Amino acid sequence: MLSTQQIEFIKATVPVLRESGVALTDYFYKRMLNNHPELKETFNMGHQRSGGQAKALAGAVLAYAENIENLAVLGDAVNLIVAKHVSLNIQADQYAIVGENLLHSISEVLGVPMDSDLIAAWAAAYGQLADILIAAEKQRYAEQEAIQGGWNGWREFKVVRKQPESSVITSFYLQAVDGGALPVYQAGQYVSVRVEVPELGIKQPRQYSLSQAANGNELRISVKRESEREALAAGYVSNTLHEHVQEGDVLELSNPNGDFVLNSADKANVFISAGVGITPMMAMLGQVAAHNMPKATSFIHACRDEHSLSMSEAVAAIKQRFPQLQTYLACETQPETDLEVQTIGRLNLHTVGAELLPREADYYVCGPVGFMQVQYQSLLGLGIAPEQIHMEAFDTGGIAAVTAACGIAAVTAA
Ligand code: HEM
Repeated sequence: MLSTQQIEFIKATVPVLRESGVALTDYFYKRMLNNHPELKETFNMGHQRSGGQAKALAGAVLAYAENIENLAVLGDAVNLIVAKHVSLNIQADQYAIVGENLLHSISEVLGVPMDSDLIAAWAAAYGQLADILIAAEKQRYAEQEAIQGGWNGWREFKVVRKQPESSVITSFYLQAVDGGALPVYQAGQYVSVRVEVPELGIKQPRQYSLSQAANGNELRISVKRESEREALAAGYVSNTLHEHVQEGDVLELSNPNGDFVLNSADKANVFISAGVGITPMMAMLGQVAAHNMPKATSFIHACRDEHSLSMSEAVAAIKQRFPQLQTYLACETQPETDLEVQTIGRLNLHTVGAELLPREADYYVCGPVGFMQVQYQSLLGLGIAPEQIHMEAFDTGGIAAVTAACGIAAVTAA
């Protein structure tokens, strides 16, 4: 428990953190990775360079400081952090390393001695948050290990098929090297994939949504090739998969994780995605169709052009055996082939027919942050309640991105 005086110290630090939060965590990462170079294989070095992770952690620390007396408001953010940490196999003893480096960085950046009351207050506050995360993570590790086919840590998977889906997206079909059972994961969940990145000479992890519903036989991820700038920010894992990983190669995967999953078996579902945001939607759509869920299902997708459009044949095949599925495609440019497109230009939900957007439905949105912001606002404008809308952002900083997209008081925004 923090004392009243410690709470005052923490609150007094909030404005300073607001101004220097990113600088502080930037300093913190450099210090920690210098002292513990082995952690370079845990953190995504692309995020270090682009500042994504620095912002994410700075945001989490700030949010914690702001809500020190009411940690319940962090509930959703904590779940997302826990899922990400567990997916990365973060261990309880690593909290001491992060804590020590964070406190030293606060002390050094703000020019306060380590033995000051302010640092003692931050030590207590960090300890409180660490305890919450460690306990929640312990529970998730126990749960995922207990389910049939589940595992903790990294498990080897062989690439049994590498299948281009479009000019930018390629699917990797993965089978467990140990030949053991696979878990019945929930559609919409992601795995961390760890691979040696030749440019960096170290292993790097990155999260990918599973792009098909659980089938007990194999896992599938569908990966977008990144531009040079995106690759720098994302740590090259995607491009390593595209360029260096071939059929027969082995990747390390963590157990499927994440809370962006189907909310209800009894409601209509509307899937809205852009670009590679289609991947969790394909898994969800597959699950809805496999269970022949009776309520209406809409699949609304936006693509840049027909060459970057992926999995349209798979969607058409599902539609054939699942007639209640309604589809809608917005393509920014006029296709040259006979591809059926409902809108040429950006997706505008106000012009999508009301039959595709039922009032009583769960809405799932995945795509770039700007896209999610626009769709979220459109859905609110169409009378859909915020609790009906579920969103998933790619990449680290996803929590901040989702909260920003929703226009809610940013829980983790720096
Ligand atoms: C109280 C302590 C901690 C807090 C508040 C915290 C918070 C966060 C947040 C907000 C994110 C970003 C999630 C997202 O938006 O996707 C994150 C990601 C991450 N955290 Fe933590 N974390 C803590 C402790 C730790 C520890 C002890 C480790 C292990 C050394 C760790 C390793 C990571 C890694 C590897 C990521 C993903 C970053 C990336 O992809 O580059 N965290 N954490």
